[in-house]
Amino acid sequence: MIKVSAPGKIILSGEHAVVYGHPGLYASTSLRMNVELSKSSRKLDLTSYADYAFNKALLSFGVKNSFNYSFKVNSKIPIGSGMGSSASLAVNMSALAQKIAKKEFNLDKINKVAYEIEKKQHGNPSGGDNTIITHGGFVWYRKEAENLKVFSKITPKKNLPNLYIINSGTPKETTGEMVSLVREKYEQSPKRIINILNKIEFCSKEFLKLILDENNTNLGDLITLNQRLLEELGVVSSQTRNLIGLLERKKASVKISGAGGKTYGSGILLVYHKNPDSLINFVKSQKLDMIPVTLGGKGVKIEK
Ligand code: PMV
Repeated sequence: MIKVSAPGKIILSGEHAVVYGHPGLYASTSLRMNVELSKSSRKLDLTSYADYAFNKALLSFGVKNSFNYSFKVNSKIPIGSGMGSSASLAVNMSALAQKIAKKEFNLDKINKVAYEIEKKQHGNPSGGDNTIITHGGFVWYRKEAENLKVFSKITPKKNLPNLYIINSGTPKETTGEMVSLVREKYEQSPKRIINILNKIEFCSKEFLKLILDENNTNLGDLITLNQRLLEELGVVSSQTRNLIGLLERKKASVKISGAGGKTYGSGILLVYHKNPDSLINFVKSQKLDMIPVTLGGKGVKIEK
């Protein structure tokens, strides 16, 4: 039997801007998904994302008789909230298919196929999600062109300050819809949106330098600035802005992480507080949904 696993991810900085060729700063998480080849074959239902991903991965690695195989998915990654569940599925399927095809384990090939699978989820992904999930750890990523995507693995020089994840609620919109919403705004008022995206790039670079120990920027201020820019892009619902306001009044710094959502919830929030105990007490008193994760988990791997 073959079993593979891959982590979830969070975006520390650069969501949406990364779709337009700006850089993004990503971390994998300790929450993982595994996919196991199952003995019983069944007819694949290509309207389901998992079956589509499995079939596409098999074909990409030259396995023609995809109907001979089936799989089981087990996941600790929350679905549809910005933690990379769909990209983790794509990466897992790609690694599983590479193994079934008896090809040598090759992260770049796994990543390429996963990117093609991700296109099904939303037409124009940046490719950042599949890259961090394939490689794990911390990654600086930039899509220069469809055929030139560059990334560097980063080793944080200083211990990252404690970052917390709070769930603001599953967005009603898909990532694809949120990306399209920003695209419409970009087409309507390019100058205004370009200006916001450039400022997001500034936040990403400052965050990068901070974890490389090259500056002493205040992380809280950086996160708050990034959040205000995402609000200007229109990817944060009023319900989520209220929740963020509540946390900010308790001296936390908060940004959405991922595509966001504009109707109800906006997915996960990345939260920083100088005094973690007071944040945790507040979260408990308000019964907020804090998701315990550590950052920098290993990328995709073969389990057995
Ligand atoms: O699917 P999510 O919530 O992890 O968002 C992906 C990040 C975006 O920048 C909004 C889209 C992309 O393709 O990079």
